Amino acid sequence: MYRSASLLAWISLGAGALAGLVPKATTNKPVFAHYMVGGVLTEHCRQDIVDAQSLGIDAFAINYDQYAWWSNNTVNYLFDHADELGFKIFFSFDMSGDYFATPSEYSQFLGDYIARDSYYTYNDVPLVSTFGGESVTTDEWKDLRSAVGDILIVPSFYQTPPSATFFDEYSELDGIFNWNSWPQIAEGKVYVPTAEDKTFQSAAQSSGKLFMMGVSPLQFKHMNTDNNWYRRGERNLEYRLGQVLSLQPDMIELQTWNDAGESHYMGNFWPEVITGDAIPAYTDGYNHTGYWEILPSFIQAWKRGDTTTANMVPTNGATAQGVFWHHTLLTTADCSSDQIGKPAGIENASNAVQGIILVKEGQTGLTVSVWSGSTLLGTKKLVAGFNRFVFTKMTTGTVTAQVLNGEDVVVGASGPLAVVDTASVCNYNFQVVALSA
Ligand SMILES: *[C@@H]1O[C@H](CO)[C@@H](O)[C@H](O)[C@H]1NC(C)=O
Ligand SMILES: *[C@@H]1O[C@H](CO)[C@@H](O)[C@H](O)[C@H]1NC(C)=O
Ligand SMILES: *[C@@H]1O[C@H](CO)[C@@H](O)[C@H](O)[C@H]1NC(C)=O
Repeated sequence: MYRSASLLAWISLGAGALAGLVPKATTNKPVFAHYMVGGVLTEHCRQDIVDAQSLGIDAFAINYDQYAWWSNNTVNYLFDHADELGFKIFFSFDMSGDYFATPSEYSQFLGDYIARDSYYTYNDVPLVSTFGGESVTTDEWKDLRSAVGDILIVPSFYQTPPSATFFDEYSELDGIFNWNSWPQIAEGKVYVPTAEDKTFQSAAQSSGKLFMMGVSPLQFKHMNTDNNWYRRGERNLEYRLGQVLSLQPDMIELQTWNDAGESHYMGNFWPEVITGDAIPAYTDGYNHTGYWEILPSFIQAWKRGDTTTANMVPTNGATAQGVFWHHTLLTTADCSSDQIGKPAGIENASNAVQGIILVKEGQTGLTVSVWSGSTLLGTKKLVAGFNRFVFTKMTTGTVTAQVLNGEDVVVGASGPLAVVDTASVCNYNFQVVALSA
């Protein structure tokens, strides 16, 4: 169980660190990335770990949902490469489907990995998460603990609304991860909300439990008519980073590293995992690694304990560094030949270009301009540190963004895919474009 006493011990250790005592592990302010366990080739598992480490991510929360040869192999590859590279892994058991109904179905499997050096621990206790699992009883969680030993159980119950008394009902949990880091479709044209985060966080704080917050760009799923929705990414990531720093949860999880099916991947996803299903039609050519221009700076701000984004600066030594993103199909577009149709929620999406630009300390006089084809959508003055922008009225054509110092282009880029108003796929994935000198 997570105990407040260990938290106090940790806080005094943290203070000691200033006096030269180095904490044993990076337990403080950890950042994870949700990793879908598909049949990933071993060299790609390794590459994912190398990339995550270079961004400052502490561990992958691996979404395991079935015993198959390919999922078992991927788990082994990840743990083996993590051992070699000094990275960490923990399980996020997917309990949303038919496969895992109770923890007893994976307790032995978990036990096999929990003793590995590369299994992630928080204050020396192995962390276990889930996607779903609302109906697991207190006794079943206790049974898991007796089977595998001391663990921290921090699930995401994405269908259970938070309440002040959440931990009265779920007393055996050590914390809660709020999965919902996008607006619900029915909320309309809103910014990413924090109401649920705040309720979960205060419930956790008053019970001495942990609160984990999610960070995600958008959620667009377009696999078939039953799995066809859009949860807003406009006014999400560019605000979420500041929300996290302001709320100061105990841990954060990027959603996700590689979930191509829901378009919220922030890392690479690999062709061997999605070949032959519906996903490539809306992810081929939609490389999201442009987010890497800003993630290291955000992770450093989080680890420093910053409570705002103000001091996020370029990590590549440049005057300005950033990323912008937009849909490549107008919301009003004709994609009627797509049998799946437009996603639920698209009525409240926006034809907009949004982004984040980091400017080096002390730098003044920069602006950002964004064009849709040859139409200038707008220009905004930039300050040193963190800047966000949104320019609406995106129209057809190539989107270009330039950071300017007077007439000089400091950094600029155009998206490889032009925005169109007719297409054979109703694709509302984001095109993500790096602004990197
Ligand atoms: C995957 O691993 C589990 C647990 O060790 C085992 O029960 C199962 O048989 C394995 N599946 C395959 C297909 O090898
Ligand atoms: C759009 O947002 C409004 C709330 O502003 C909501 O009532 C409506 O249901 C949303 N439209 C769709 C199609 O979800
Ligand atoms: C995504 O783009 C980056 C940067 O151009 C590149 O290094 C990476 O290989 C690309 N990923 C894939 C899967 O093509």
